[in-house]
Amino acid sequence: MRNAFRIAGFVAAALLIAFVTVARGEQNTPKQVVLDDLQKALDNEFNARMRYRAFAEKAIEEGYQEIASLFHAAARAEEVHAGLFMSLSLARGGSGQAVTESVDVKTTRENLARLVAAEKLERDQVYPLFAEHATAAGDKRAADVFEMVRSAEVEHFNLCSEAAADLEKHKGPARTWYVCRGCGYTTPLLPAGKCPICRGSHDDFREVE
Ligand SMILES: [Fe+2]
Ligand SMILES: [Fe+2]
Repeated sequence: MRNAFRIAGFVAAALLIAFVTVARGEQNTPKQVVLDDLQKALDNEFNARMRYRAFAEKAIEEGYQEIASLFHAAARAEEVHAGLFMSLSLARGGSGQAVTESVDVKTTRENLARLVAAEKLERDQVYPLFAEHATAAGDKRAADVFEMVRSAEVEHFNLCSEAAADLEKHKGPARTWYVCRGCGYTTPLLPAGKCPICRGSHDDFREVE
């Protein structure tokens, strides 16, 4: 009986805290929403980087060297994204610290399916919503970065989808990828001119294998 009272008391306290948080509108100002989004984006990209790295190890173990190269390149791109969000967060009073989570590694086939779903979510929902919030807050720089990162994630979605569609076709040796230091654009062919996403210089691309 005493336990039941204790649980009821805990639930009531939690509801009160939730009510007070909603009632205090200042916690949800447009600027605060952008700061929260930047934190979520930083956590998201940092953990995506860890996930791609861990999945690359699994791919090598399973004989998918070519897929591992793609994962290494995508990990480098997510690192670029995490850096962008960290800078924006710090400049707006955020902690700039990512909240990390452990990686659950499955088979390469399953890992790819989860990556496709995650990249799709970022492409279609997460970053469009964050860009909308930043625009509403008058934070053009943050809105532009959310849009730019979304464009790079479109490529990740396409590349992972293509690999997932015919995994055995991608059992070849490791290959070279090029990743833009400005926006994380990931491509198997070094662009002759500027980066198609951020218009950065040709020299901004780094080779990853
Ligand atoms: Fe990605
Ligand atoms: Fe770029």
